[in-house]
Amino acid sequence: MKNIQPVKGFSKLSKAAKLEWLISQYSQRPELSQAMLSGYWHTDAEVQKLHDEFIENTISNYYLPFGVAPNFLINGKLYALPMAIEESSVVAAAAKAANFWLDRGGFRTRIISTRKIGHVHFIWEGIQPLQLTEFFNNTKSKFFDNAEPLTRNMVLRGGGITDIQLRDKTALEPGYYQLEATFETCDSMGANFINSCLENFAKTLQTEIAEAQNLTPEHRQVQIVMSILSNYTPECIVRAEVSCPIEEINEGSGIGNMEFAEKFCRAIRIAEIEPYRAVTHNKGIMNGIDAVVLATGNDFRAVEACAHAYASRTGSYRSLTHAEIKDNHFVFSLEIPLSLGTVGGITNLHPMVKFAHEILGNPGAPELMQIVATAGLAQNFSAVRSLITSGIQKGHMKMHLLNILNQLEATEEEKAQIVEYFKDHVVSYSETVRVFCSIRGVAAQSK
Ligand code: MEV
Repeated sequence: MKNIQPVKGFSKLSKAAKLEWLISQYSQRPELSQAMLSGYWHTDAEVQKLHDEFIENTISNYYLPFGVAPNFLINGKLYALPMAIEESSVVAAAAKAANFWLDRGGFRTRIISTRKIGHVHFIWEGIQPLQLTEFFNNTKSKFFDNAEPLTRNMVLRGGGITDIQLRDKTALEPGYYQLEATFETCDSMGANFINSCLENFAKTLQTEIAEAQNLTPEHRQVQIVMSILSNYTPECIVRAEVSCPIEEINEGSGIGNMEFAEKFCRAIRIAEIEPYRAVTHNKGIMNGIDAVVLATGNDFRAVEACAHAYASRTGSYRSLTHAEIKDNHFVFSLEIPLSLGTVGGITNLHPMVKFAHEILGNPGAPELMQIVATAGLAQNFSAVRSLITSGIQKGHMKMHLLNILNQLEATEEEKAQIVEYFKDHVVSYSETVRVFCSIRGVAAQSK
């Protein structure tokens, strides 16, 4: 084990020097590491420079597969969904659901609301709530006026600050209040816009307190704790739905139509009442959502954090999807908060992200919300359909087979033979190793 010392001023080093330091300190195989990292650089130096500048201390790129799931009929329009994801079966499952619903009228989606939210969190102990309310009401218009240089462009695009309210949180923490502001951010996710506005409100608050005639010195003791958007956006909601007559629900999955529909609804109900199942169930939804969110250059951490908070809004963690049988129809839906952007961030910079937007027809944020929600609903449909019929492993392991074969360093010829073999056998790791070894003529434990 090397005696590793802390490094000073790492971010100021050139890329080559950063690599050299890292490899000399941490790599077991310096030459291989160097070749591998530089092998992942883009061949076009301009594109590589773009990537280098997305974050600090870039030393290489990190590839994920970029796949497409075609045949998504959403509100009558056909899309091919771009998906960036490492999990073998996700794109296949999305594509399967898209084809299934293509013949049954496709996905219907709608935006329920698009409001974003943010807060100035502050502590003001020396004031009575009523006095603060009066101060806030007298000051409210100044928050809008002073932020006008920041909001001008957004207002021209149809957005801006929609409201600012004073929230009394003193029951939770002595002296704790918030300025709670709501925003419309049009096609941008809006994080920078919202945070800039909030910091501007905080400044206005401080100035107005300093200048208020009727406040004594002890009344002026205010601490602005922080100004930040909330990634919880329960008022930025989209709904996606599919439905079909019961007699059309169950093509080729081996059980009767009504039995399938009822079993499906029961599986969803279990995810509505049992948090252990709900987490896995929602993870399956996020398989589809994250893949499109990532491909389109959006903030998947924000989307994830918000989705799970929303899934807990009743006080217990529940399924984000709902299924029911209504008027002899199977109806399956998802309602989810999605704060997405189609301008800003890396959306106009990253070549693959730009391509993802292009194949989607360069949608605005509301259209992208509907596309992403559809991906989530489709993914959940495929997962639950497999779970209640064949089980999940059949499809999952079939897609994972090539990963196992690559791990075993199988040749293309061996891969072709083994894939052929598994067309009518159940894939498992041990069975793959057994077949691989028998083709190679080696004992199973030798690889
Ligand atoms: C695997 O990535 C996702 C599933 O576990 C989702 C589910 O169980 O609904 C298959």
